[in-house]
Amino acid sequence: MKNKASLPAEAGVNTRLAHIGHDPFSYHGFVNPPVVHASTVLFPDCQAMEKREQKYLYGTRGTPTTDALCEALDALEGSAGTILVPSGLAAISVPFLAYLSTGDHALIVDSVYAPCRQFCDTVLKRLGVEIEYYDPEIGAGIETLIKANTKLVHTEAPGSNTMEMQDIPAISEAAHRHGCVVTMDNTWATPLFFRPLDFGVDVSIHATTKYPSGHSDIVMGSVSANAAHWPQLKETALSMGICGSPDDSYQILRGLRSMGVRLDHHQRSALAIAQWLEGRDDVSRVLHPALPSFPGHEIWKRDFKGASGVFSFVLKVDEAGRFKAKAHALLDALSLFGLGYSWGGYESLAVPVNLSDRTIRTAPTDGPVIRLQIGLEDVADLKKDLEAGFAAAAAV
Ligand SMILES: Cc1ncc(COP(=O)(O)O)c(C=O)c1O
Repeated sequence: MKNKASLPAEAGVNTRLAHIGHDPFSYHGFVNPPVVHASTVLFPDCQAMEKREQKYLYGTRGTPTTDALCEALDALEGSAGTILVPSGLAAISVPFLAYLSTGDHALIVDSVYAPCRQFCDTVLKRLGVEIEYYDPEIGAGIETLIKANTKLVHTEAPGSNTMEMQDIPAISEAAHRHGCVVTMDNTWATPLFFRPLDFGVDVSIHATTKYPSGHSDIVMGSVSANAAHWPQLKETALSMGICGSPDDSYQILRGLRSMGVRLDHHQRSALAIAQWLEGRDDVSRVLHPALPSFPGHEIWKRDFKGASGVFSFVLKVDEAGRFKAKAHALLDALSLFGLGYSWGGYESLAVPVNLSDRTIRTAPTDGPVIRLQIGLEDVADLKKDLEAGFAAAAAV
């Protein structure tokens, strides 16, 4: 694109992904931004140094590479500002530290990404923050849990592993009536399928490790805030010395260019496999928000523009004592699906789900939960692999 300013406001999502975040003519016409490795930035004289009269001051405070990524993420999220952090987990812990103080009460969805719970139950409790978990399907009923000292409501939709949907506009409205900040882990949907700030959320959290990276080779997170919450987020990140590395920022920006095309494929393949699983006698339930049979489907249809490639299913097993053996037999028999954590990459993965930390949405009783990340392989090959897994589970 010759002129970045000419990107039409109504441009389609793939057009925007191809052009947001870097103005080629800000750097000699090169299509991609330079990777600026920096600690020291020089000032021409003491006055410029004292008055901070230039765009860049020090490596931790941003470089042309990190700015290019932040600008792209702001364009996708509709946010006032974005910080980059070293992991998706830090994209949760840093805003929590920005908005919570000793004596505050925080409401955390029970289906939250498990390491977030670990952070809340250890670091935040030690700092004197009161933590309470709530039912993901509580909706406007969240208001009954809000106390005088409630300062933050954290949401994640769909929930990790069990995929519960949340009524984000209803929760945000109730939380705002009481002056609480609403944060959302939007990693599953990406801003292409859900824009949290348009639905009342104040702070949108992403593990850019997942779909923005797309290749299972980067660990990074981003936090994007609306205008009211941006100054405190920015100040906290700067005070803590939290920043994104230029190499990782470059790779994430590179990943964004193809994210729309990849997500289309992930979405189609995951839905095809979810529908196929739903028709099997050895599957008790498929936990995928785009399936009409899923309890949160109507919310998903109302608020989301698509579904990514991660979902779970409950293997039908009659005796609880055999849940683990059957799940392990299925997973160990897979060869295309790798056994490993994370998701959003080009390759398919499967994991046994451990829900022992849940206090409200506890583990199903109709069988073990298995989470799938559907990669970019061909659906027929993935089904064949899963068939081998089901055969192995049946033999145990
Ligand atoms: C929903 C969700 N949020 C955050 C994270 C954390 O991301 P990272 O692995 O980059 O710390 C994960 C990781 O699996 C996740 O699934």
